[in-house]
Amino acid sequence: MSEPSLSFFFFFIFFLFPAISDSSKCSIKGLPLVRNISELPQNDYGRGGLSHITIAGSVLHGMNEVEVWLQTFSPGSRTPIHRHSCEEVFVVLRGSGTLYLASSSHEKFPGKPQEYSIFSNSTFQIPVNDAHQVWNTNEDEDLQVLVIISRPPVKVFIYDSWFMPHTAAKLKFPYYWDEECLQPPPKDEL
Ligand SMILES: *[C@@H]1O[C@H](CO)[C@@H](O)[C@H](O)[C@H]1NC(C)=O
Ligand SMILES: *[C@@H]1O[C@H](CO)[C@@H](O)[C@H](O)[C@H]1NC(C)=O
Repeated sequence: MSEPSLSFFFFFIFFLFPAISDSSKCSIKGLPLVRNISELPQNDYGRGGLSHITIAGSVLHGMNEVEVWLQTFSPGSRTPIHRHSCEEVFVVLRGSGTLYLASSSHEKFPGKPQEYSIFSNSTFQIPVNDAHQVWNTNEDEDLQVLVIISRPPVKVFIYDSWFMPHTAAKLKFPYYWDEECLQPPPKDEL
């Protein structure tokens, strides 16, 4: 190999090739139609006690109307207190826990939530924009849920407490599992 073609070879290996393999991780091309859930990527995305699998997603699979997640919460683990302007349906596959739901999005802050026991083979939906939290309050068993949301990718507003004003809730977008493949929108330069 002459020197120029050798240096192109190294350029290809170190710069182009990683770019190609990165983009394929974030692309629907080449994914089989029928996928084995046990072989889909799962991660805690830095949230201890969580295992999240995007079963069919906007960013990864090109879904436009709905997105489906399989999530497992170890005993004591929970979602943040949060809200989103999409519909959300839960199906509890195993375990049990507590849903906290504050149906007061018209007030200045969520306020003390109502508590609902959730259990294996139960289902519930979260009204659009209501602050909520799902908590595995069962000390002995994982809580596993199938989650369906509309209007992906999800834009989530996170609260530090039930008494934090809605206007102070922090937008997390892209959300944890969309971060790798969805670039945040460019910030307005003022
Ligand atoms: C799905 O994946 C799991 C884990 O790799 C494997 O044990 C199982 O046999 C697979 N199922 C099928 C039908 O291939
Ligand atoms: C959930 O309920 C349905 C309807 O009764 C039943 O067919 C199904 O077996 C139940 N699943 C579990 C895991 O209990």
